[in-house]
Amino acid sequence: MGSKQFHVAVVGATGAVGNQMIACLEETNFPVKRLTMLASSRSVGRPLRFRGDSIEVQELTERSFKGIDIALFSAGGSTSETFAPMAAQDGCVVIDNSSAWRMDPQVPLVVPEVNPHAVAQYTQKGIIANPNCSTIQMVVALNPIHQTFRIRRVVVSTYQSVSGTGKKAIDELFNQTRAMINFLDVERSVYPHRIAFNCLPHIDKFLDNGYTKEEMKMVNETRKIMEAPALAVTATTVRVPVFFSHSESVNVETERPCPPEEVRQVLATAPGVRVVDDPSQNRYPLATDAAGQDLTLVGRIRRDESVPNGINLWIVADNIRKGAATNAVQIGQILTQTYL
Ligand code: A2P
Repeated sequence: MGSKQFHVAVVGATGAVGNQMIACLEETNFPVKRLTMLASSRSVGRPLRFRGDSIEVQELTERSFKGIDIALFSAGGSTSETFAPMAAQDGCVVIDNSSAWRMDPQVPLVVPEVNPHAVAQYTQKGIIANPNCSTIQMVVALNPIHQTFRIRRVVVSTYQSVSGTGKKAIDELFNQTRAMINFLDVERSVYPHRIAFNCLPHIDKFLDNGYTKEEMKMVNETRKIMEAPALAVTATTVRVPVFFSHSESVNVETERPCPPEEVRQVLATAPGVRVVDDPSQNRYPLATDAAGQDLTLVGRIRRDESVPNGINLWIVADNIRKGAATNAVQIGQILTQTYL
């Protein structure tokens, strides 16, 4: 790593992902010369901790980015749509966690274990997109399988935690659970139905094709990151009453035979992956084990006996860390080490 230090901003610093971004910058010893915390006017003056210092939150405005080298955005799609180009205009490189720029052909969509070379394209718009949380953990596990066995088709069902929706959703699950076990009335504001003791097959908006936007993100972003435009992917995304970590049941069909022992071997040496797969000891990936660390856990690796070349996987990762903040900071590390 060079000795250069950077003025970094976190946009959405008071949010669930923004908070974790700050922690990841600290944990990775990111070359931060100065850190600016940005959020809405509601949070102005709120003190946030970084490396033992207290830094007050400032309001995000069009003048926020003068002199800033790198901005990590996680304040929702419309904030990114408006402010990312303004930041880029001021010479700041944006790493954007929202879905606003992901499918823009001039914006690279990066998972460092899969397509780190794509970071080079940041010069086109000054923006790099951080993929959807469920997509990141899936491609970390699928890319090494694709490189060895050539994936033809993927069928995925997700079990996504409420932290992916943000702080208000974490509170909603907590409050509803407490109300239910005390026989009190349940209040609801974030989700269209009660999330406590329930599963909602509905994440993000419904589209004309009957899929949700979250499901189509998994289809389109997977193809873009893996540079496999013809890859067949179909997804069902489900919100479950879990606080942290997303779990996924993934069925994969390949061109070449993919015996489970060979898949297990390929995954055992894949970057960012930990194989947790010993059913005889009740060992398989759990949301509670994935939370608070950065690896993508893969287990329940078994042959799909209904097709000639198929494999089933259970993939779990911390959606706030690898699914969002960690991946964004890893992109930042590639930027600072190779390009800035
Ligand atoms: P604030 O706390 O001031 O509302 P989460 O996803 O956990 O709900 O967090 C969303 C983050 O995005 C928060 O930091 C929030 O700031 C920030 N945010 C939301 N809307 C805006 C906006 N219009 N301008 C700046 N920051 C915003």
